[in-house]
Amino acid sequence: MWVYEKRLEYPVRVERTDLRMAKYLFAQYGGPDSELSAAVRYLNQRYTIPTNRAKGLLTDIGTEEMAHWEIIGTMIYKLTQGAPVEELEKAGLGAHFVEHDRALFPHDAAGVPWTAAYIQAHGDPIADLHEDMASEQKARVTYEHLIRMTDDPGIIDTLRFLREREVVHFQRFGEALNYVHEYMESRKYY
Ligand SMILES: [Fe+2]
Repeated sequence: MWVYEKRLEYPVRVERTDLRMAKYLFAQYGGPDSELSAAVRYLNQRYTIPTNRAKGLLTDIGTEEMAHWEIIGTMIYKLTQGAPVEELEKAGLGAHFVEHDRALFPHDAAGVPWTAAYIQAHGDPIADLHEDMASEQKARVTYEHLIRMTDDPGIIDTLRFLREREVVHFQRFGEALNYVHEYMESRKYY
């Protein structure tokens, strides 16, 4: 079970409406390398990963990715709040408005809806952990691209925090790869 804390893991400070940036941030809300993909990937893979330590890691990181998804959602919401339809259309969010008004929806920056085809679970811990490490690197570089698209100090600060967490997750998955590998080898030969 989960216990919900009614506060964000990291604050979202947004100065003004910025539809252009909101559109780009959808990359992390419902794109292939989004926080949503990460959360569902890890929370789904954890059942078949061997060792309680690795299961715990996938649960912890998957849970944190949900918190990051919430941060991205809050950013998009704040950046689009109260925007007139004409402005949404000018920013390339006209199609979004037609289908969702100002509600959030998991699609990427180009409007392509999220799909479970973005993620995998092979039941092979080595394959799964390599996917997880790659996904952290892809999320990191997506944050770096997003940071280059804005000069809003509040947005940059939050995106830098999220980028840093991807680096930490990558390192934790790298450690898991080692101890899961050792565990599998020990089962093979003894
Ligand atoms: Fe991550």
